[in-house]
Amino acid sequence: MTETKTSAAIESVLTEERVFHTPAGFSEAIGGAYVESMEDYERQYQRSIDDPEGFWGEAASEFDWMRPWDRVLEWNCPDAKWFVGGQTNICHNCVDRQVDQGHGDEVAIIWEGEPMDGAPEVRTFTYRELRDEVSRCANALKKLGVKKGDIVTIYLGMVPELAVAMLACARIGAAHSVIFGGFSAQAIADRVEDARSRFLITGDGAWRRGSVVPLKENVDQALEMTDHVEHVLVLKRIGNDVDWKDGRDHWWHDVVDGESTECPCEPVDSEHMLFLLYTSGSTGKPKGIIHTTGGYMVYAALTARTVFNLVPDRGQVYWCTADIGWVTGHSYIVYGVLPNRVPTFMFEGAPNHPDPGRFWDVVERHKVTQFYTAPTAIRAFMKWGDEHVEKHDLSSLKVLGTVGEPINPEAWMWYHKKIGGERCPIVDTWWQTETGGHMITPLPGATPTVPGSCTRPFFGIDAVIVDEHGEEQPLGSGGLLAIRSPWPAMLRGIYGDRERFVDTYWKRIKGMYFAGDGARRDERGNFWIMGRVDDVINVSGHRLGTMEVESALVSHEAVVEAAVVGMPHEIKGTGIAAFCTLEPSRKPADAEATKALIKELRQHVGVEIGAIAKPDVIRFTDAMPKTRSGKIMRRLLRDIAAGVEREQDMSTLEDKNVLAQLRGES
Ligand code: WT7
Repeated sequence: MTETKTSAAIESVLTEERVFHTPAGFSEAIGGAYVESMEDYERQYQRSIDDPEGFWGEAASEFDWMRPWDRVLEWNCPDAKWFVGGQTNICHNCVDRQVDQGHGDEVAIIWEGEPMDGAPEVRTFTYRELRDEVSRCANALKKLGVKKGDIVTIYLGMVPELAVAMLACARIGAAHSVIFGGFSAQAIADRVEDARSRFLITGDGAWRRGSVVPLKENVDQALEMTDHVEHVLVLKRIGNDVDWKDGRDHWWHDVVDGESTECPCEPVDSEHMLFLLYTSGSTGKPKGIIHTTGGYMVYAALTARTVFNLVPDRGQVYWCTADIGWVTGHSYIVYGVLPNRVPTFMFEGAPNHPDPGRFWDVVERHKVTQFYTAPTAIRAFMKWGDEHVEKHDLSSLKVLGTVGEPINPEAWMWYHKKIGGERCPIVDTWWQTETGGHMITPLPGATPTVPGSCTRPFFGIDAVIVDEHGEEQPLGSGGLLAIRSPWPAMLRGIYGDRERFVDTYWKRIKGMYFAGDGARRDERGNFWIMGRVDDVINVSGHRLGTMEVESALVSHEAVVEAAVVGMPHEIKGTGIAAFCTLEPSRKPADAEATKALIKELRQHVGVEIGAIAKPDVIRFTDAMPKTRSGKIMRRLLRDIAAGVEREQDMSTLEDKNVLAQLRGES
């Protein structure tokens, strides 16, 4: 790989000067790059912007449609309809179509379980086996009363049945709402309630680093807080004891295994809801992001193919390490990959179980060719030491991807050298739950990469940097990241909350989609994401609203007021710092009591939301730094949490002593 130094000294954050061009031999190694050069990219990009209907119409025509669309796009900002009038089924296009085209015996999913007693458990599903299993599950769901348009909640670990359940819903026209297995009973109840979901699919438990996550127990608790759910389908994964409610609870093996494998795919309108996925915002409870069928299907598949250069019949094995509970898993483990006829690898376990070499052991044994993970994982591997990597043969790897948060150049370089052996392009993909698929990303084989930059917009994505008034900013200067025109996988709304949808994404910059990120574009045209500009923090690549954590804290009887801010964290990228004022009677008397209360509060947040939301640091204070109008001055708290001493405008701070106290305690 060639390393060219450019002298562009742009701005402090843009001091990165290394540019990496496509390594020689990449195209042959990958079975032909879909986009061969920047000229090719520019040409296709320009076409996609000048003629979006032509571009996307062509992309959509390779799928099976039960009824062709009348119009590619109907756009009434903020409402987009794609492939209007068309009818299709995404499960058919992911699974049955492959069987119909003579690929029924090829591998669709390879799965490896977490436990490592001797050889790990590995299961593979061909497209035909997947079709049969999905059909059985779909028939079972129908018998339980699931109908087209229903919302089925799914709360499982990373087992193949999770993908099966999603596809089964899609097959019969039901929408799914997958909840990450790390979320708490309260979080399940909130989501079930919001979606008024009558059906839930879970398991007896899930493996997590050798211990059992009590999925069923969490569900049982959640269902005491909401009474929408009528039927619970329970997969036996662990074999642990679970409580049972006759009539409501059904074992998967009792109701699915004996079902018929005949289950036709239900034709649905292109704009039929495919799934809801809850994600945090800057205010209130998580919002249910709505994705629909046709546009999402076309966009997820085209991005997966182009960005990871998925080529069938070349022995490729694609592995995305995300959990399906996040959008990354929806789009880039299931829906985007299956239509491309490259096996998607699913892993149940953690990167460091039984030891920190597990991922590389997996790559070696399964000869993984495309590998997609998060910067937080890369930083953890760096910390665990190169010896765990060096023990394994990673020569099968051809493309590396990252997602979830900005990647620090040091981690990028380590990934490039230690994992990619300097021969794999790195695709740093910027996107969001709301965007459904990759938005700004290099294309391997074409885009020169720069550590820390997600480079250029994908086809059809009209990304711009603007100021508060929507004025486009000159290259080199920062601003808000916005998307000027619709794309097929864009969110169609927030479930049950039209106003919040309009306010969050479409009000701040008139006529454009506002992503919530600050960014800049350098002289080369590359985008650099600077992070969220709202009260959302990105912890280990997972989005959390600071308000959500604050509400969890104040729901504890000892806490009167809480302010939560992000702070730099070596592994997580952003950690969580919480400042709390306490009920006078609950003020800890000594250091030991302080420690005990901190532990109790962290635990409490875990119960309210889930372990990922537990603050890394909790500090007690007699008062918060506030403006005269009573607003908490978060920028001051952010500096204190980061240990930064900086001149700040404090003219509006009401009580200067507060700050001294907060600093003194640090
Ligand atoms: C937020 C979206 C998309 C799946 C994972 C997260 C941040 C995401 C990158 C990247 C810099 C990134 C943004 C975005 N983000 N990818 N490659 N570089 N930042 O999905 O939970 O919806 O979070 O993650 O801040 O807004 P999400």
